[in-house]
Amino acid sequence: MGTKLIIDTDPGVDDAFAIALAARSADVDLLGVTTVFGNVPLATTTSNARRLLQLCDRPDVPVAAGASRPLLYRELHRSSTVHGSDGLSGHAASLPDATRPLEDSDAVSLMVSLLEASDEPVTIAPIGPLTNIAALLAAHPGVRSKIARIVLMGGAITLGNSTAVSEFNIWADPDAARRVIAEDDVPCVMVPLDLTHRCAVDSTWLAKLAASGPVGQALNSFTPDYLAHYRQVLGYEGIVLHDAVAVAEAIHPGILRAETYPVDIDSGLGPTRGMTIVDRRAVPNISTGRPVEVAVDTELDVLREFVLSRLAGGR
Ligand code: RIB
Ligand code: CA
Repeated sequence: MGTKLIIDTDPGVDDAFAIALAARSADVDLLGVTTVFGNVPLATTTSNARRLLQLCDRPDVPVAAGASRPLLYRELHRSSTVHGSDGLSGHAASLPDATRPLEDSDAVSLMVSLLEASDEPVTIAPIGPLTNIAALLAAHPGVRSKIARIVLMGGAITLGNSTAVSEFNIWADPDAARRVIAEDDVPCVMVPLDLTHRCAVDSTWLAKLAASGPVGQALNSFTPDYLAHYRQVLGYEGIVLHDAVAVAEAIHPGILRAETYPVDIDSGLGPTRGMTIVDRRAVPNISTGRPVEVAVDTELDVLREFVLSRLAGGR
């Protein structure tokens, strides 16, 4: 069996594609899915995660709910227009009901039990705010030896999306992000907006997905609100599957090219709160943060075909 994986998620349209990518990959041992507040409130992200796994015929995968708010400062939820009020462009109700009950344990407890039980190190793919991951690392330092690496969607080398300088997953809980990205030494790959935007997929790609079968058709049905947003951002009929790019790296190491830079997070309360400071200077004197692998490039069409073939082909 290939990659042992835990996904921490706030579905979310692109999260839905990312979860399906892992769930439908025969070479991935998806140990569990944990949920966090983010695109929509925790109750909705949790319901969406459970039902998305049912859609992918994966009721074997346990789901546990985690943080409903940031570690320190309450942030207003992002306007629900990008992902729709139910997180899936108003189509969450079309998902099948989950047959597997939600785990009694919380997200951190499930991650600890899965890590401790695994016979080899586990990849964790956070694709939402990092609140659960910060809590895991702070409260259970002993499990860090069972984490192969953290491959997270988040951050920006240049422009943000929630603000001019901060990307949503970081902006939603900068204190948690700083604990995970800058204040720990668990191997970390950061997949920033600068790369995910370049991996956008167009209407032709989406049409192929929709024609591939019921899962592809369902995923495509979640895109209208998301498409309305990214039509403006991209200037053409396409969407950015941020989280699927990160999960592609988590399950296919090396599909993204990364460079190592010192990365720090602004967890202050000023206008740059949530900024990821990626120090790319040739001589990074007085650099803060710690060395992080920052994904900077990929073979775009190879990545797009990898994601499409896995989503279309299934296990
Ligand atoms: O900025 C993109 C990230 O924010 C993605 O994880 C998307 O799902 C949203 O949560
Ligand atoms: Ca997400």
